[in-house]
Amino acid sequence: MKERIIVALDTDSPDSALTVVQTLAGEVGMFKVGMELFPRGGPDLVRKIRAAGGDVFLDLKFHDIPNTVGGAVRTAAALGVRFATVHASGGKEMLARAAEAARGTGTTVLAVTVLTSLDDSDLSEIGFSSSAADMVLRLARMAMEEGIGGFVCSAREVPAVRKLVGKQAVLVTPGVRLPGDAVLDQKRVVTPFEAMRNGADYLVVGRPITKAADPAAAARRFADDMRSGREAGSRGA
Ligand code: C5P
Repeated sequence: MKERIIVALDTDSPDSALTVVQTLAGEVGMFKVGMELFPRGGPDLVRKIRAAGGDVFLDLKFHDIPNTVGGAVRTAAALGVRFATVHASGGKEMLARAAEAARGTGTTVLAVTVLTSLDDSDLSEIGFSSSAADMVLRLARMAMEEGIGGFVCSAREVPAVRKLVGKQAVLVTPGVRLPGDAVLDQKRVVTPFEAMRNGADYLVVGRPITKAADPAAAARRFADDMRSGREAGSRGA
C-alpha cells in the first residue's frame, strides 16, 4: 500500500522539500509538487525527487486554450512525472488535447472537477446553475469521454465518481486523516481505511506525515490503515 501514498510537499523551499523526500523515499510512492513549490524548484527539483526514488505528481492544474494545455502536458510528460492535473472545466477540446499529449507516455492526466473550496452558492455566483455534486459528475463524465484516465476527488465524491468512471480510472483523494490526527484546516476528512474501502486508488497526505515527529512511522500507519480498508472494500464490507 505504501506506493499508493502521495506526500504533498507543501513548502516553497526546494531544500526542505528534498529533506522530506529523502526521509520518506522508500516509505511512500510519490511526492506532490504544486504551484507553490514548482516555480522555485522547477524541473531540477522534479529530477532530484525522481533520482531519490519517488514518482512525482505535478499538481499545476492546467487550464488554458487546448493548444497550450496540450503543450503543457507534453512538457510534463517529458519530465517523467507520473501524474499531472488539469481543470476539467477547461472544456472538451482542452481535455482531449491533454489526454492525447499524455498517450503513450508514463504520465496519467488527472482531471480536477469542482474545487472543494467551492460550494453551490460560489458556483451560482460564477454563473453555473448546477449544484457542486451534479457538476462533479458532469465534468467527470465529460473528461472520461475525452480520454482522461484519472480524477482528483474528495473522499466523499469517490463512491459516485467510481460508479460513473468504472474500475479502470485512477482516483486520487486528499483530505485524509488517521483517527486522532489533527484535522487542521480540512473541513471534511475521512480515514485512510474509509477512503480505500470506498474505492480510492491513491491518497494525498500532507501534514499528518510531513509534520509528524517520525514521518516514516506515520507513513507506515497510513499504509496499514489503507491495507485494511482495501481488504474491506474488496470483501464488499
Ligand atoms: O496537509 P494535508 O494532508 O491537509 O494536505 C492535503 C494536500 O491535498 C494539500 O496539498 C492540499 O492542497 C491538497 N488538496 C486538498 N483538498 C483538495 C484538493 C487538494 O487538501 N480538494
